[in-house]
Amino acid sequence: MIRFNPAEVDTPAYVIDLGLLRKNLALLASVQQQAGCKVLLALKGFAAFSTFAFVKESLSGAASSSVAEASLAREYIDKEVHVYAPGYSSSEIDKIAKLADHVIFNSVSQLERFVPRLRRVAPTIEIGLRINPEHRETETALYDPCAPGSRLGVPRRGMLGSILSELDGLHFHNLCEKDSDALERTLRSVEENFAPFIENVRWVNFGGGHLVTRPGYDVDRLIRVVRGFRERWDKQVYLEPGEAVGLNTGWLVATVLDVIDYGTPIAILDTSATAHMPDILEMPYRPRIIGAAEPGVKAHTTRLGGLTCLAGDVIGDYSFDAPLKVGDRIVFEDMAHYTMVKTTTFNGVRLPSIVLFEPNENRLDVVREFGYADYKSRLS
Ligand SMILES: Cc1ncc(COP(=O)(O)O)c(C=O)c1O
Repeated sequence: MIRFNPAEVDTPAYVIDLGLLRKNLALLASVQQQAGCKVLLALKGFAAFSTFAFVKESLSGAASSSVAEASLAREYIDKEVHVYAPGYSSSEIDKIAKLADHVIFNSVSQLERFVPRLRRVAPTIEIGLRINPEHRETETALYDPCAPGSRLGVPRRGMLGSILSELDGLHFHNLCEKDSDALERTLRSVEENFAPFIENVRWVNFGGGHLVTRPGYDVDRLIRVVRGFRERWDKQVYLEPGEAVGLNTGWLVATVLDVIDYGTPIAILDTSATAHMPDILEMPYRPRIIGAAEPGVKAHTTRLGGLTCLAGDVIGDYSFDAPLKVGDRIVFEDMAHYTMVKTTTFNGVRLPSIVLFEPNENRLDVVREFGYADYKSRLS
């Protein structure tokens, strides 16, 4: 539900509704409280740090995947900082030791290489290992960590070596936009296959992919599943959703720059699929647009094209009540997560500004604008 006037926004811009973000955070906070677990924000999905005061108030910390994300978590949330990455280099491990409370490794060889050093630099740091349950729930191969040949996590047959006795925790992540039934099935498989390892640790991190804030998500089942695990094993449980935090809290507002027609009407926008909404091409998916329908449903069908020279920089075909014209606003829905964190400056296209909408005061605040310096700072 859009509560601001898109005509008042200089485009391109991501607009985050703080009221909707606080609503998502309140639901996640109630899951923490009722299930007796800790919920972390996965920064890979949502890292708009100008909103982190609210995240800090509601959640237990952040899950990061790099020195940069861990630094952001320490600077702006400063509660529990967890780091997991498929690999660490020796040049960054000391920095991670200083930033993190939990460091989660992807393999036994990385554990063997870095645990003694981590324990020296940060004696109280918690050490975890990502396991691979080899239980598949995610249809799209790009997002399925349990696909055959996956590089993510250690399968049961790889759980070998005396270093495993050093573990404080286990981590698994195999869901993407799933409901709690998928977690329940995954957990069954984890408990069947990794029981001796669960017994020996203090915490288990159930990863992300729990779309808790999607209307219709079975929150009661999630609470039951987490509580059941805690009752069976008496371990601290972590969840680290990204998408669920930002879900349906943001928009990307764009403007029509030109309309061309050589048989198919095409609107050129001041945004880009590849640079500003890359999941449209990667995932792929079709974003919803306010006031637009599937092609052919409304009177005027138009292809929406992006601003880069990539031939495939096309958002899709949509129909509108009236023909699009130069200056019209196009408002893409659900654009807070996996957008700002993935943008590029390909073609030097300007990054969308970041704008916060405070519904209690009906106020739009432009918290970040981008320009030439941002493009140049990534090159030399
Ligand atoms: C290890 C890990 N944790 C958490 C997440 C967050 O997942 P989501 O944003 O789907 O909740 C991801 C996403 O890829 C991940 O790889």
